[in-house]
Amino acid sequence: MKGPSCNTQAPDDLPPCTLVIFGASGDLTRRKLIPALFSMHRQDLLPRPFGIVGCSRTVMDHDAFRHSLRPEELEHPADADAWEEFAGRIHYYPVRYDLESFTGLRIFLQDLDRSSGTGDNRIFDLAVPPQLYPVIATLLGETGLAREGAGGSGWTRIVIEKPFGHDLESARALNKTLHRSFREQQIFRIDHYLAKETVQNMLVFRFANSIFEPVWNRHHIEYVGIMAAESLGIGSRAGYYEKAGVLRDMFQNHLMQLLVLTGMEPPCLLESDPVQDEKVKVIRSLRDFNTEHGSRICLGQYTAGEIGQTTVPGYRQEKGVDPRSSTPTFALLELYVDNWRWQNVPFLLISGKRLPRKVTRIVVQFREVPHHLFSNLVGDTIGANRLTIETFPDEAIRLTFQSKEPGASLCLRSMTMDFTYGELYRKSALDAYARVLLDCMAGDHMLFWRQDGIEQSWAFLTPVLRQCEQCLDRDTRLHFYPAGTWGPAPVRDTVRRLLNP
Ligand code: BG6
Repeated sequence: MKGPSCNTQAPDDLPPCTLVIFGASGDLTRRKLIPALFSMHRQDLLPRPFGIVGCSRTVMDHDAFRHSLRPEELEHPADADAWEEFAGRIHYYPVRYDLESFTGLRIFLQDLDRSSGTGDNRIFDLAVPPQLYPVIATLLGETGLAREGAGGSGWTRIVIEKPFGHDLESARALNKTLHRSFREQQIFRIDHYLAKETVQNMLVFRFANSIFEPVWNRHHIEYVGIMAAESLGIGSRAGYYEKAGVLRDMFQNHLMQLLVLTGMEPPCLLESDPVQDEKVKVIRSLRDFNTEHGSRICLGQYTAGEIGQTTVPGYRQEKGVDPRSSTPTFALLELYVDNWRWQNVPFLLISGKRLPRKVTRIVVQFREVPHHLFSNLVGDTIGANRLTIETFPDEAIRLTFQSKEPGASLCLRSMTMDFTYGELYRKSALDAYARVLLDCMAGDHMLFWRQDGIEQSWAFLTPVLRQCEQCLDRDTRLHFYPAGTWGPAPVRDTVRRLLNP
């Protein structure tokens, strides 16, 4: 076996910079961003020098901010020392999201750049509610903070979390606002699914092996299933989720990216633009959603039930949810990609909250053998081959095929060849947020959405959303499913098909 061929990124290759986090007192900063940055610090992956500036409305000083971020489980003295060292890189600047405080922020950042030597390179991460995206982008533009080389020679980047708009029109409007102050090259639209190890492996798996490509098409593939099942409910995010629902929360971004990676043609180069070009082509080739032309949709909402041994409330009983809400927490969409490779191959996209367990996977189901040589032994059906690319619970790739059971008689058995990241690689994979932050520091757009991709994705989904949200029989179309079951009864068997070979 040949050793790894790597394209490693050392901290010395990364330019020094300051990461400015808006929404610094919020959940995303505490739960995702700071833990990812701390793990990068511990693995010595951060650029040198590097600084973090937290900004939010809360008035506090640097120490209070650092203290609010300190992880609870720092028992080992080495962990505590590492934290103290990392915390020394963290600063805080309170902002009111107006011109005056952004002008103050500019002066603060200039002073910090000078004293820490970060070369005026800045990343602005918007970990704030989406209504603040245009406000902050505009203020950064008006105060000159968006301009590159404003204080000398540095670069400026802006990172936007999802949701990027709530339909085609609002996504276009947001893009327009961003482009008033930033060039496309400065904008990084995050989709954390793209940073998952197995998802990234999809490109390698498809395009660094020659045996899969000849069968990766409608002649050999029966259907593709893409599933993101979750046992969690909506937690404390009712305000956001009531407006988003599962289609905006999971389909427009994460599931669409998984579909695109499965369906795209090989790019001419492994560089951001050629890869994005191929991705966009897949979204453009999606058949308009029309149930008369094969498209299928099933929407559901969870009612009270049990997950494991725990009784959980229904969606309508969650804190902050309208007791008559018709927001879907589950959806199954059957889509078609109209091109030579995929004509009439169903792509089944499934996602739901409060299902029995968390499972995230892509299933490539191959066709049955054309001639049943063994039918007198096993009846008419022989399980077809299946390739499963899983990101949760295991990061794994599995290939299922038929084999003979040992012994004198001829018995067929479905076997699975298994490659599990955890078993082969001892070192833990890089956290998805750490991966995207590193790429942003390196200026690599490969793992981010480009403007045309995001607009195409909304262009496809917006009519579907309209059909779901504006139809008069909206309530009767919503299927209820008890928490802890595999979704609404009419599609439960389809969901199960993706779980079992
Ligand atoms: C987020 C959604 O983008 O992805 C959440 O807003 C969802 O609702 C989460 O729970 C799932 O991410 P992961 O990485 O846990 O599969």
